[in-house]
Amino acid sequence: MNRITQLFNIKYPIIQGGMIWNSGYKLASAVSNAGGLGLIGAGSMYPEVLREHIQKCKKATDKPFGVNIPMLYPNIEEIINIVVEEGVKIVFTSAGNPKTWTAFLKEKGIKVVHVVSSSVFALKAQDAGVDAIVAEGFEAGGHNGRDETTTLTLIPMVKEKIQIPIIAAGGIATGRGMLATMVLGADGVQVGSRFAASVESSSHNNFKEKIVKVKEGDTHLTLKELAPVRLVKNKFYQDIQDLYEKCPSKEDLTTLLGRARAKKGMFEGDLDEGELEIGQIAGIIHEILPAEKIIQEMMSEFEIACKEKTKFEF
Ligand SMILES: Cc1cc2nc3c(=O)[nH]c(=O)nc-3n(C[C@H](O)[C@H](O)[C@H](O)COP(=O)(O)O)c2cc1C
Repeated sequence: MNRITQLFNIKYPIIQGGMIWNSGYKLASAVSNAGGLGLIGAGSMYPEVLREHIQKCKKATDKPFGVNIPMLYPNIEEIINIVVEEGVKIVFTSAGNPKTWTAFLKEKGIKVVHVVSSSVFALKAQDAGVDAIVAEGFEAGGHNGRDETTTLTLIPMVKEKIQIPIIAAGGIATGRGMLATMVLGADGVQVGSRFAASVESSSHNNFKEKIVKVKEGDTHLTLKELAPVRLVKNKFYQDIQDLYEKCPSKEDLTTLLGRARAKKGMFEGDLDEGELEIGQIAGIIHEILPAEKIIQEMMSEFEIACKEKTKFEF
């Protein structure tokens, strides 16, 4: 038991990060049933689709689960209302100001966690009254901070500033990675990329197979002028780099990005023209496994690594 397992009433301090086009109810419920905390990723769902996923998740698990809400979407109010109406007990907010919705959600008895990429924002989230924060290093898949702060440096800096529980994210796919961040001061971990390559992930099989082929150096944090995002270096990524050569305006970049690129890449499986969001740690993801197996592997490696840790002698 620790602060994170107690906060969410779960067995293991492993949270499956909310991921657009990847984390529907199937993945969230599988993770929760395996003893972690599954999150439905609301970012790629129309409000009524989200409602359906929450209802299906409630049927698929009797364990706690939550919803991740990136706050930059226009229909945020509708999304928040659905979460409240459906009795969701845990919300992870990201990409926005934690002050906007935290008090409202907490009044409804919902536990709120906010995702940050710096110690300054961690402090702001704590001041806004969240129950815990996710501190996400720039090696993570998906949208990220501009500052390129790695998980290894972010966790101790955040730890220095705040008192509430810290969930480390970015570059964690194994029990050893989990232990490393917990030694640095994290109370739990949020894992994205590894679950994107799970059997239950709702992404296209082409994308999952691509993840297991990704090697060291195959991803890059780009589009910092819009919303920084870590992408696989595919044809679309190359098109962005070619445009950068011409010193593009923000509008030029927005036009190239167009609409629904992430859906095209991750959900429809277009590996050339789509946006493929994955973290650096994909380089050690070699298999598409069921979520339960991922959690079991992580926890058994974590336990072995905990024992080994005591063996250093100098
Ligand atoms: C495909 C993909 C989509 C993601 N979408 C979201 C999202 O919608 N909201 C969010 O807060 N984080 C999102 N993330 C970040 C994850 O929730 C998680 O914090 C991150 O993946 C952790 O780093 P890792 O990829 O190294 O495990 C996404 C990550 C990936 C890989």
